[in-house]
Amino acid sequence: MKIALTGTPGTGKTSIADELEKRGYKIIRINDIANDFTIGYDEERQSKIVDEDALDEYIKEIKEDGILFIEGHLSHLLNVDAVIILRCNPEELEKRLKEKKWNERKIKENLEAEALDIILDRALEKHKKIWEIDTTKKSIDEIADEIEKIIKEFPPPRYGKIDWSEWLMENA
Ligand SMILES: Nc1ncnc2c1ncn2[C@@H]1O[C@H](COP(=O)(O)OP(=O)(O)OP(=O)(O)O)[C@@H](O)[C@H]1O
Ligand SMILES: [Mg+2]
Repeated sequence: MKIALTGTPGTGKTSIADELEKRGYKIIRINDIANDFTIGYDEERQSKIVDEDALDEYIKEIKEDGILFIEGHLSHLLNVDAVIILRCNPEELEKRLKEKKWNERKIKENLEAEALDIILDRALEKHKKIWEIDTTKKSIDEIADEIEKIIKEFPPPRYGKIDWSEWLMENA
């Protein structure tokens, strides 16, 4: 079973994937393989343009009986069985992205994307089994525990409750 681990940059995908890997889970990190699927560079957004169809084909070919996490901010666009979206209050997300030394414009772009639920909207175009996790005040350990609980119990999907509109009203 393939599970996308997605979220706006800075929400903690890589940190959580590291912890899940420590706990013995298999992870494919899209960042590690993206070069093989890069078809250009978007100067404006300062990011690689990935051939999503080719990436999807590659992921589709992988046979996995157990749990396989596909980590990356494009993973919810792929043919996975379920999607976990890491969310973070934009105010806290700003601190995390500043720590990563991102430039102001990219930070603003990502804070707005997070506040507008962009990843959830795109994920919903393709998937129903979606769980959102608010990481704002949780430790990496707590978030990994929550993810393990989801993959063991498969509770009903959980999304659409997280609401950053207050931040939007004050900042956009
Ligand atoms: N739950 C958390 N609490 C506090 N800080 C966190 C948490 N999760 C991640 N961080 C910190 O936030 C920053 C971003 O985390 P990380 O690099 O894992 O995010 P990411 O989603 O993989 O981002 P990107 O899409 O840019 O790769 C790091 O400095 C990390 O240590
Ligand atoms: Mg990362």
